[in-house]
Amino acid sequence: MKAGKTADHRPVRTEDEKCPLSEMGMGAGDRRGPGYTAPDQDPVAEEAPPILDTVKTQADEDTMILQTERLVLRPWRVTDAEACYEYAKDPRVGPVAGWPVHTSVENSRQVIRDVLSAPETYAIVLKESGVPIGSIGLKFHCDLAEKDDEAELGFCLGVPYWGRGLVPEASREMLRHAFEDLGLERVWCAYYDGNEKSKRVQEKLGFRYMWTTPDVPVPLLGETRIGHVNCMTKEEWQANR
Ligand SMILES: CC(C)(COP(=O)(O)OP(=O)(O)OC[C@H]1O[C@@H](n2cnc3c(N)ncnc32)[C@H](O)[C@@H]1OP(=O)(O)O)[C@@H](O)C(=O)NCCC(=O)NCCS
Repeated sequence: MKAGKTADHRPVRTEDEKCPLSEMGMGAGDRRGPGYTAPDQDPVAEEAPPILDTVKTQADEDTMILQTERLVLRPWRVTDAEACYEYAKDPRVGPVAGWPVHTSVENSRQVIRDVLSAPETYAIVLKESGVPIGSIGLKFHCDLAEKDDEAELGFCLGVPYWGRGLVPEASREMLRHAFEDLGLERVWCAYYDGNEKSKRVQEKLGFRYMWTTPDVPVPLLGETRIGHVNCMTKEEWQANR
C-alpha cells in the first residue's frame, strides 16, 4: 500500500512499511540502501573460512571508512562482537533508543550479522584504542526517509564515553558524507520523548524540529512512545557548516 501523509505532514505507513529506530540496534533501520548489493552471507557460517571474518568484503571496507579528529567510522566486523556487547549490555544505551540490552557476546555477534551489516552503518572506533565504542548509521527508505535522496541518522555510544562530544563529531562527518558523497537532499533524526541527551545532540548538530507523534510503536520492546522528529536539508547543512 502506498504511503500517504496526514494533514500535519506526518507520514502514514502500513505496519510492514515502518522501520522504527529500534530495528537497527542503534537507532536506525535494517533496510538496504539504494543500489546496495549485500555481500554473500551464510546464516550458519560460524565455521566458514573467515579470511576477513567480516560481514563485508575488504573492498566494501576500503570504500566505507570515514575519519574525524578522534574517530574512525568503519563497517562492523563479526570480530567486534565483544566490543559491541561491552556497550550494548548496559541498560542505559539500548532501551532509550528502542532496542533491548544485548544478552551475550553471541547475541551481539548476531546483531552485527543481521542488523549492523546494513549499508552506511558504521562502528564508531576510538582512534586512541582502535576499539568500537558505539554505532552510527544512515537508514534509507523508511517511514521518515521515504525518498531515494533522504536518510535517517541514528547513533549510540558506550556510557564511559558519554559527554565528550564524540557522537556530535561522528554525526558531523556522517552529515558531510550524506550530503557531499551520497548526494542526499534531506537527513532526518528522531528521538523518543525523555531522551534529553539525544535531543541535545540533535540541537547541537543544527537539526530543525518538525513534529511530534504521540504513539510511535517500539516493536522490540512491545510498547509505544511519544516520538519527536527533526530534519536537516542540504541547504541548511551548507549554510551552517
Ligand atoms: C545520545 C548519545 C549518543 C550522546 O552521545 P555523546 O557523544 O555523549 O554526546 P555529547 O557528548 O554531545 O553529550 C550530549 C548531552 O548528553 C548529556 N550528557 C553527557 N554526558 C552525560 C553523562 N555522563 N550523564 C548524563 N548526561 C550526559 C549532556 O546534556 C550533553 O549535552 P551538553 O553537551 O550540552 O552538555 C549517548 O548519550 C547515547 O548513546 N545514549 C543512549 C543511546 C541513544 O539515546 N541513542 C540515540 C537514540 S535517538
